[in-house]
Amino acid sequence: MQGTPQPPKLYDFAPRLNTFRTDVIQGLQRPLKELPSKYFYDEIGSQLFDQICELPEYYPTRTEISIMQRNIQHIASALGPRCMLIEYGSGSSVKTRQLLEQLRPTAYVPIDISRQHLLNTATELAQAYPDIEMLPVCADYTSNFTLPQPSVKVARRIAYYPGSTIGNFDPNAAIRFLASIAQTCGQGGGLLIGVDLKKECNILHRAYNDSEGVTAQFNLHLLERINLELSSNFQLDQFSHYAFYNPTLGRIEMHLESLCRQQVHLDGQMVAFKLGETIWTESSYKFTLEEFAQLASEAGFRIEQVWLDTQQLFSIQYLSVE
Ligand code: AVI
Repeated sequence: MQGTPQPPKLYDFAPRLNTFRTDVIQGLQRPLKELPSKYFYDEIGSQLFDQICELPEYYPTRTEISIMQRNIQHIASALGPRCMLIEYGSGSSVKTRQLLEQLRPTAYVPIDISRQHLLNTATELAQAYPDIEMLPVCADYTSNFTLPQPSVKVARRIAYYPGSTIGNFDPNAAIRFLASIAQTCGQGGGLLIGVDLKKECNILHRAYNDSEGVTAQFNLHLLERINLELSSNFQLDQFSHYAFYNPTLGRIEMHLESLCRQQVHLDGQMVAFKLGETIWTESSYKFTLEEFAQLASEAGFRIEQVWLDTQQLFSIQYLSVE
């Protein structure tokens, strides 16, 4: 008789509530208020992000999937057999299924900050691919945590960082983060990364201002999460989603704009908002191929291969550790 599938053992380095509280309070006390975009991804936030990925206006996900589908054999042979595949910010691991199918790594380490989402996905993947050792890690992957060791020897470590999440870092932080991946993978290791490319502003504007308002809900959910976890009293209908492309800096900026003068109470503190004042919740940098090659080289990687879609909206790149 088949029982409920057992979830794989979870390596748990999830950030504590205190870190969340400190980051939120510090961010809201800045002259230009901001909140770290990594806090979008609780259970509901991760589900909303999955919905964004299905939107007709949000081209990155389907474009990346189509590049992957068209080139999967070449991609798998660039990565090589018997690797340990480490995915940073695995979410629902939709794109990963194609890769696991073709690559058949020895071990797969999905790392995600959203514990339940990670466990659900890892359980499904463990059932679908019983020959791959599943080692899920719940962590803020930008912080320090210990990588689990597979039970058998692997040929190399390959990091997987799809979705152009690298664009959510400011350039210097992106270099530091990629450098830490290079160190984790070591000599002989590599990185398969999805990188969103610069393009016509209207396409970008629509992708972050969808007609169904899912991106707005995703952005506003951050305030709902703060209310729930830190007992604050943000009134969600007094803030609105505001996203635009800044061509000078080559990035989408996402903000929450206060629709009136108001005060919010949070952890015994009061945060005052002027009419029109914003909380900056996310940057999403877009790159030319040359700009990204420069960034990668500063982090200690060499670009080995680049796969593109026909419209050159998005790229998947394989980088080796120099
Ligand atoms: C996860 N990250 C790459 C997404 C992006 O496009 O920057 C997050 C997102 N924000 C709004 N829509 C999607």
